[in-house]
Amino acid sequence: IVVKKAEYTASAVKYEQYPTDGLPEIAMAGRSNVGKSSLINSFLGRRNLARTGNTPGKTQTLNFYRVNDAWFLVDLPGYGYAKVAKTVNAQWGPMMENYLKKREQLRAVIQIVDIRHAPSVEDREMHEWLRVKQVPTMVVATKADKIARGQWLKHLKVIAKDLEIPDVSLILPFSSQSGVGKKELNEAIEEILGI
Ligand code: GTP
Ligand code: MG
Repeated sequence: IVVKKAEYTASAVKYEQYPTDGLPEIAMAGRSNVGKSSLINSFLGRRNLARTGNTPGKTQTLNFYRVNDAWFLVDLPGYGYAKVAKTVNAQWGPMMENYLKKREQLRAVIQIVDIRHAPSVEDREMHEWLRVKQVPTMVVATKADKIARGQWLKHLKVIAKDLEIPDVSLILPFSSQSGVGKKELNEAIEEILGI
């Protein structure tokens, strides 16, 4: 995929607010602050299209980015961060569940974890939930620039074991900072979309 055009089109909490063009979608799920929005920017080659930040809880709605007028990347709000406002926390569950359960044009979820850490309870629950609901899921281990390349495999093995992924090679090491894994992610998305 060569990204020729990338634009933010909508933020949504409820189904009625989702885009209605019927284009296929790929959504990003992961813990708050793990780097979902950064991955979107890196993939799209746009520095600041999706808002990122040092404070967890930056993305609090479903944000839709249309790529090449052909498909959407959907930035989902992160999980596992207790300090966001109570009202936001209360709407998180239904907001995510409604989207992930009902969205017909959802082709796959990219679940993003931090390569440095063992998956959290929420990471494991999300992965299991996606498996049970039979949502095609790819796991990306981001912030790979933060550890030496020689350490990657050791970390990927822990992630594979905890998420019950049969083969470490199914997990993609990635860095929004260095661009490692970008080509492989691009190819994976091409395959998901069949383009
Ligand atoms: P929420 O919207 O709060 O759920 O967070 P998010 O998952 O969208 O994270 P975001 O992209 O805002 O990134 C959080 C922080 O991690 C920012 O300070 C980013 O600069 C940093 N970050 C994200 N990806 C990487 C990466 O690959 N390498 C490094 N070194 N830092 C990263
Ligand atoms: Mg975000």
